Amino acid sequence: MSTTKPGRGNWAEVLEWSRTLPLSEFKARADAVCRQHHGAGVWLRGLIEVSSYCTESCWYCGLRAPNSQARRYRMDTATLLETVRAGYAAGLRTFVLQGGEDPALGPELVAGWIEAIRHATNDEAAITLSLGLQSRQTYRLWREAGAQRYLMRFETANPQLFERYRPGTTLAERLRALEWLRELDYEVGSGFLVGLPEENQTDREAAWRLCWEFGFDMVGIGPFIPHPATPLGTTERPPLELCEQSVAAVRLLLPLAHMPATTAAGTLHPKGREAVLAGGANVLMPDITPIPMKKDYELYPGKVCVDESGLACLPCLDLRVRTAGKVIRHGVGSAPRRVAR
Ligand code: 5AD
Ligand code: SF4
Repeated sequence: MSTTKPGRGNWAEVLEWSRTLPLSEFKARADAVCRQHHGAGVWLRGLIEVSSYCTESCWYCGLRAPNSQARRYRMDTATLLETVRAGYAAGLRTFVLQGGEDPALGPELVAGWIEAIRHATNDEAAITLSLGLQSRQTYRLWREAGAQRYLMRFETANPQLFERYRPGTTLAERLRALEWLRELDYEVGSGFLVGLPEENQTDREAAWRLCWEFGFDMVGIGPFIPHPATPLGTTERPPLELCEQSVAAVRLLLPLAHMPATTAAGTLHPKGREAVLAGGANVLMPDITPIPMKKDYELYPGKVCVDESGLACLPCLDLRVRTAGKVIRHGVGSAPRRVAR
C-alpha cells in the first residue's frame, strides 16, 4: 500500500503520529501545516439553506422524509437573491446553496438560480452547490451554468454503516458521483461525520485514507449530534476530541484543502469551532439563511446562532477567529491546487 502522493502528507507518518502523539501535539503539527499553506487567514462562505424537503431517510438527520414533525420550506427565487445581495453587500464572495434532496429543485430551476446569482454579484462570487446525489447530466448543466464547487460528504467510510444509515444508497454510488464532479471540473468537497453509533477508530482512519486517496479540494468534518425525531435519537454525543483529531489528521494529509470549522462542532461545544480553527481548519460558513427558515433547517437540534441573521454573526465570528490566533479573509478563496493549474 503506497504511503506517498505528491502534494499530500505521508500516510504512514500521519497515521503513526495520530496513534502516538498527545492530541495537543498532533493539533500543533496540523496548525503549523495549515499556517504554512494558508497563513493565518480564515475564509468566509455564506451558507444558504434553500430547501428543508428531502426524499431520503438518513438515520441521523432531522430532515429525513419520515420525520413528520419537521417543518418544511422551499425558498423562492426572490428571497434567495435578496439573501445573496445582502451577503454580497456585507463582503461575502462565496455562497453555498445547500438543501435536502428535493426533486422540486429541478435542474432548470437551479441553473436559473446560478445565472441569477452570477448577475447579482457581478460574477465576482463563487457558487458552491450542496444538493446531494444528482445525475451526471444535472451536475454538468449546473457546472455549465457557472457553479464552480460542489460539496457532498461521504459521511462514513465504512460501507456497512453507510448502507445502514443511508438506506437505499451505497458508498460506492456516492464515490462515483464525487468522481463525476471531479471530471466535470468542479472543486470537489466531501467529508464525514465523526461519532456515529458503532463507528470506531478504524472507520475514522479509513475516512482519513479515503480523503487522502481522492485528494478532495475541500473537506468538512463534523460531529454527529443525535436528533430526537430520528432512529439514532437516543444515542450518545461524541467527545469533541474525536472531531479535533480527524480535522488535524486530514489537514496533515491534505495540506492544500480548504477545511471548515463546522457549525456542528460549535453546537457540540461552545468553543468547538475555535478548537478546530486552532488545529487545521481554515474556513467558516456563517448561515445567512433568513431566520424563520434557518430554524426549520434542523439537521440536528440546538444549532448555534439560529436566532440571529448570519450577517449579525459576522462580528462574533471575527472575535472567535481572533481567539484562535487567526484573521478573517474576504474573497473568493479558491482551493490552492486549482489556482496552480
Ligand atoms: N449531526 C451532525 N451533522 C449532521 N448532518 C446530518 N445530520 C446530522 C446530525 N444529526 C450533516 C451530514 C450532511 C450535512 C449536510 O449535515 O453530514 O452531509
Ligand atoms: Fe436528506 Fe441530507 Fe438529511 Fe440525508 S442528510 S435526510 S439527504 S437532508
